[in-house]
Amino acid sequence: QALSILREFEEKCGTPISKLKQVADAMTVEMHAGLASEGGSKLKMIISYVDNLPTGDEKGLFYALDLGGTNFRVLRVHLGGKEHRVVKQEFEEVSIPPHLMTGSSDALFDFIASALAKFVATESDGLHFSPDRQRELGFTFSFPVRQTSISSGTLIKWTKGFSIDDTVGQDVVGELTKAMERVGLDMRVTALVNDTIGTLAGGRYHNPDVVAAVILGTGTNAAYVERAHAIPKWHGLLPKSGDMVINMEWGNFRSSHLPLTEYDEALDAESLNPGEQIFEKIISGMYLGEIVRRVLCKMAEEAAFFGDTVPAKLKIPFILRTPHMSAMHHDTSPDLKIVAAKLKDILEISNSSLKMRKVIVELCDIVASRGARLSAAGIVGILKKIGRDTVKDGEKQKSVVSLDGGLYEHYTKFRTSMENTLVELLGEVSNNIVIEHSNDGSGIGAALLAASHSQYTEADE
Ligand code: BG6
Ligand code: GLC
Repeated sequence: QALSILREFEEKCGTPISKLKQVADAMTVEMHAGLASEGGSKLKMIISYVDNLPTGDEKGLFYALDLGGTNFRVLRVHLGGKEHRVVKQEFEEVSIPPHLMTGSSDALFDFIASALAKFVATESDGLHFSPDRQRELGFTFSFPVRQTSISSGTLIKWTKGFSIDDTVGQDVVGELTKAMERVGLDMRVTALVNDTIGTLAGGRYHNPDVVAAVILGTGTNAAYVERAHAIPKWHGLLPKSGDMVINMEWGNFRSSHLPLTEYDEALDAESLNPGEQIFEKIISGMYLGEIVRRVLCKMAEEAAFFGDTVPAKLKIPFILRTPHMSAMHHDTSPDLKIVAAKLKDILEISNSSLKMRKVIVELCDIVASRGARLSAAGIVGILKKIGRDTVKDGEKQKSVVSLDGGLYEHYTKFRTSMENTLVELLGEVSNNIVIEHSNDGSGIGAALLAASHSQYTEADE
């Protein structure tokens, strides 16, 4: 009977190519709608105010701060211009204490500002060339923000594990600046960017063919380079470059073509943000392990999968994390001893049979494949929107997509499935599409954008 629960789940999660094509088309349609008007779509298609991507000429010492992934990071990047590129890069990683994710705005920003102040204090003498020059910072803030300029924007809503009411509607640069003042740190935010925008900028610095960036991590999202005149809701001046980078916030995508199950519906209903981020909830690292747990729970409750009693630990939401799931999914030992060890360590289930373990590996595969295949469909939706999904006159132009995030980096089967699905969906066009890992690109990207929007001109140096 547990097997029939698994089979039913598998069927509902199905992502045949025909369905993925519908998802890709729906993504393209929603992109148009979101660009047409504010509130025109579930896709916010946020105008980033980034109309120039890094050229390589950027010079000087800049700081970056990256908030919104698993870890919070502070970076110091020494840019040397065309010839020397990134001369030196240092960073520190700090994990955010969970209580700060749902506490008060001041507490969160104070924590960040003091970590930054400590990091600045480690700067070696002479690095910060002139004493009368203010230090400048690129702030990567990986949540939906309505940008009001390149260096300001108000928080639309929190996503992932964060929920702090008093930040919503506030200018997050203002919040950070006030906290920096409280800790006595004199620094100016010259660029506020989403992690997808930072990744795109970092990717472009190394490769001029980068057209889009995708994050597959705790959350998921994408950004790409749009032609400014194709953005009806943009009433500002047409930028010289003719381009505008768009933060899609694709995590909030929703379509009747998405294969959703009762488990996804329950997960959503009990989440911090019901009804929101549906695409994210079936793809990203914060949720995949939790979906597996929910299916196992049902198998335990209704089919005595683990024996007469339901293991108590199995009832705890989010106890089974995606890294655990990934470890089980990649277990190649004949007796699946990693699966057995995870069951024991995390769920306190010590009597698992080989048959049970095989079912669990299969379950991980169903959940991971659905997410991976849907993210490939999302990428195809973007390529369609910018006309890079077909080959024109034997043209060999490469389109590079920068990828980052823990799910992409560490969950090999997820990554492989996503890449294979792209080839399935694109056919021979896939020869012109390159997926490139942009390691830590978003931190460097933010520093590069801070540099190109510096309050000082090069003559001041
Ligand atoms: C990092 C990027 O590598 O990936 C961050 O530099 C991004 O900007 C993060 O937010 C997302 O991954 P995760 O898995 O930490 O959520
Ligand atoms: C969530 C955030 C988005 C971010 C993504 C990846 O979807 O809303 O802004 O880019 O996670 O970190």
